Amino acid sequence: MNEIAQTTEQTQVTEPETGTPSTTDSIHFDIFTLFPEMFAGPLSESIIKRARERGLLSVALHNIRDYTTDRHHVCDDTPYGGGGGMVMKPEPIFRAVETALTRPPGWTLPPEDAYVNLPPWDAETPATLPVDTPIILMTTQGRRLTQSVVAELSQFRRLALICGRYEGVDERVRTQLVTDEISIGDYVLSGGELAAMVIIDAVTRLIPGALGYELSAHQDSHAPGLDGLLEGPHYTRPYAFRGEIAPEVLLSGHHANVDRWRREQALLRTLARRPALLERIDLSQKDQAFLRQHGWSPRGE
Ligand code: ADE
Repeated sequence: MNEIAQTTEQTQVTEPETGTPSTTDSIHFDIFTLFPEMFAGPLSESIIKRARERGLLSVALHNIRDYTTDRHHVCDDTPYGGGGGMVMKPEPIFRAVETALTRPPGWTLPPEDAYVNLPPWDAETPATLPVDTPIILMTTQGRRLTQSVVAELSQFRRLALICGRYEGVDERVRTQLVTDEISIGDYVLSGGELAAMVIIDAVTRLIPGALGYELSAHQDSHAPGLDGLLEGPHYTRPYAFRGEIAPEVLLSGHHANVDRWRREQALLRTLARRPALLERIDLSQKDQAFLRQHGWSPRGE
């Protein structure tokens, strides 16, 4: 079966051996977008590619435009009340989401059915959607994506992401269809597609078995393994490069010293770059003493 399922003819993505999710820890994403081709590269490389090949991740791309029935396949319209920009119309989004989410994960509209042979849908009657599938609108107005939000999302087996474009989406999509809204940061993208890819990537890293070296997900900056500290510096060969040498402790073979050095470097880096993070972290007495030597004092002291 076509795993990066495409509803229109554009994108050819090399298909992995395995199709639908096969293990209990697998996650399925339904992506609703006007630009499904944008996803081809990120879904076909590196960790995400391998997770798909292993059946840990599957992604169905639904082209919202396929769900229009008018002659020109219009998905946007001018805003009521005037003003600049265009607004995404509600019906194609509702139709796409309600059609896909009332079908099994992995289902996509056959390309030849786009526009002309859509499954029956009632604009007036809300579909009964699965309660355990969040329907997330990618928008600058959403809650900010953090590692703990990523961890929360990774607990679901199926997620739907709606990628907004233009000035925004009709408010009825917010009030009647979506269950969550997420922003990947305080800057404006041309649409939600890149934000959706960020979510797929970050969530995939948390699927057991998706990373070659399982521990590395826990040692990333912001991940639980480092207690929310930023990671310290990394070195590899050569020992000396442009006059700068690798720290001797890393070559000492003394694991306890290496661990302590890494912890201290993580504390220093966090103090220098994101001091507010230190307030949220459970610091040991030893950590606190070390930080105080470097000019830190807990808020309120
Ligand atoms: N759409 C446009 N900008 C966005 C952002 N920063 N996060 C999520 N969706 C967006």
